[in-house]
Amino acid sequence: MLLHIPGVLNAEEVRSLRDRLESSEWVDGRATVGTAGAKVKNNRQAPANAPASIEMAGIVTAALKRNALFFSAALPLRIAQPLFNRYDAENLEHYGFHVDGAVRAHDQSPGWLRTDLSATLFLCEPEEYDGGDLTVRDTYGVHEVKLPAGDMVLYPSTSVHCVTPVTRGSRLCSFLWMQSMIRNDGKRTMLFELDQAIQSLRARCGESEELLTLTNHYHNLLREWSEI
Ligand code: NI
Repeated sequence: MLLHIPGVLNAEEVRSLRDRLESSEWVDGRATVGTAGAKVKNNRQAPANAPASIEMAGIVTAALKRNALFFSAALPLRIAQPLFNRYDAENLEHYGFHVDGAVRAHDQSPGWLRTDLSATLFLCEPEEYDGGDLTVRDTYGVHEVKLPAGDMVLYPSTSVHCVTPVTRGSRLCSFLWMQSMIRNDGKRTMLFELDQAIQSLRARCGESEELLTLTNHYHNLLREWSEI
C-alpha cells in the first residue's frame, strides 16, 4: 500500500526545518548506501550525527508520534532516525531505480531494524522545483509522487523506486524507514482498512454491539499477527 499522509508537519515546523537546513552542512548521499545504490545515487544529505540533524530528526519523530493516521497505517515497532536530503538542479541530482537495504543498524535495542516501510516527508512546495518525482514501481504499476510541504508518503520498502532528476530549483525532504509490528504488507493493509472503517462507522453511527464486535476482531487480528 502506498499512502499519502497529509499535514504531518504544520507550517511552522516546515519553516523551522527549512531554516535549519539553510545552514546545514551537506555530504555525499552515497554515505548511507551499499555498492549497488552508490552507482545510481547522486544527491546530498545532512550528516546524520550532526547535532542539528539529530534535533531536526526529533521534530519529525515527534510529529509522527502524534499522527493517528500514520500509526494506523504503519503500526510502527521501530522508527529509524529521520534523515534529510537535497537534490539540486545544478547537477541534475537524482537517485536512479534502487531497492532499500532490508536491515539497518539502529541506535536502540536490539541494534537492528528491518525496513518494512519507507517514508518521504516533503519540505518544499511542488512549484518550487521541477522534476524530483519519487517514482515507486510495484506489482500494481508505477506511481509518481510529489506532495505539498509537510505531507508524507508511506510505501513498502519491498518496492523498487527512484527520484527523477531535479531540473529546476531544489528539492528538500526528510526520509526514513521503519519496522512494523506487521511484517506483511497485505496483512498490514487489511488491518489499516478495518481500523479506518471502524473509526468512520463510530463517527457516523455512534457505539453499537456490532461495532464492539468489529473492534474486538481488529484487536484479535493485531494480537495474532503482531511480532513484538
Ligand atoms: Ni530508497
